[in-house]
Amino acid sequence: MSSRVPSTIFVIGGTGAQGLPVIRALVADGKYAVRALSRDPESRRAIELSTLGNVSIVKGTFADEAVLRDGFRNCSAAYINLDGFNTGEKTEIYWAIRCYEIAIEEGVKFFVYGNLDYALKRSGYDSRFRTGHYDGKGRVGEWILFQNLTNRDRMGAALLTTGPYMEMAVSAMTPMTPSVESGVVTWRVPLGDGAVPHVALEDCGYYARWLFDNPERANGMNLEVAIEHVEYAKLAEAFEAVTGHPAQYIDTDLEAYWSGPLKAAADLPSGYNADLRDKSTMSFRENFTGFWNLWKYGIVKRDYALLDEIHPGRIRTVEQWLRREDQLGRALGNGGLWERVQPENLLRSPPVLKLSEDKRKGAL
Ligand SMILES: NC(=O)c1ccc[n+]([C@@H]2O[C@H](COP(=O)([O-])OP(=O)(O)OC[C@H]3O[C@@H](n4cnc5c(N)ncnc54)[C@H](OP(=O)(O)O)[C@@H]3O)[C@@H](O)[C@H]2O)c1
Repeated sequence: MSSRVPSTIFVIGGTGAQGLPVIRALVADGKYAVRALSRDPESRRAIELSTLGNVSIVKGTFADEAVLRDGFRNCSAAYINLDGFNTGEKTEIYWAIRCYEIAIEEGVKFFVYGNLDYALKRSGYDSRFRTGHYDGKGRVGEWILFQNLTNRDRMGAALLTTGPYMEMAVSAMTPMTPSVESGVVTWRVPLGDGAVPHVALEDCGYYARWLFDNPERANGMNLEVAIEHVEYAKLAEAFEAVTGHPAQYIDTDLEAYWSGPLKAAADLPSGYNADLRDKSTMSFRENFTGFWNLWKYGIVKRDYALLDEIHPGRIRTVEQWLRREDQLGRALGNGGLWERVQPENLLRSPPVLKLSEDKRKGAL
């Protein structure tokens, strides 16, 4: 084991959908302790984390240099997932860069950045694919790898590039929330014949842990993960196979999509603390139009053979994910997936995203 293996890991975004499984995986066997930043240590999710044992919560916002400095200090590693749906793209880029710089200054030895694909670049700089919450992370991801060429011996760095959580396809208040139409579970999204490289949150925990456990190999790596590229006709088929209830995918044009359940949100800023009067701010409609175009036109790739090597037990198909989720829900007393996606139940259960639980409110 390397002498650079971290003991205490500073985590930003720890109470979020992504952070919870990451922290669970980090502290599962006592190898690491976690110091997690939260604006509200009294929240349900922060309290849940505290009960894990070797997790402490630091109160504060990542948009504050003194808080960052205090958070990184005496930590040997960091997992940084900034919430672009709070800040908006421009502010996220600034604070992400400052996180990297302050982490080095404070003596952190290994820095893992919660990344998303630099979509605009991958598309050949075609604005139809501009997606602020992807590009805001993806640009910084490339910048970090570039800094790492000269800084790698002082502080190692790696990217964990994820993608849309599979959980969002069976949760309330997401871009792919299903409806139930005449007894048929229905996804109406502008995907055409494309496919979404959905990720399993549980596996994100494994991948994050792998990066910290293997710093020599991980240093300079961009680990890009997904279950598989999920076509939504296949999602519906798999849902039927798992639950025994009918499901369908209806390809929807963008105009109809934005006249549907997301209509009220379409012209709001994509980041809830971003200002639409600032012309750099993207609206929901602009941001998620680019997002759906990415999947519809196959802009984002994954190396599944590499993922099989790194995580042999990974979830490999949407059907496998749905089956597992169905069983987990039953074991927790929440019912199977068919029951859970009924509108009254969907709205009653806690949303997968903390930001939805908080109704898109909170300090920058
Ligand atoms: N939705 C997806 O499918 C998906 C997939 C991959 C990546 N992402 C990216 O992940 C990020 C959001 O994380 P998430 O998906 O885990 O969402 P989430 O469940 O809504 O969690 C948001 C997290 O960000 C923290 N946070 C927000 N503003 C903060 C601030 N000013 N200071 C400190 N912490 C702050 C929250 O902590 P407290 O509320 O406790 O302070 C919480 O831990 C976004 O940038 C998004 O683009 C999303």
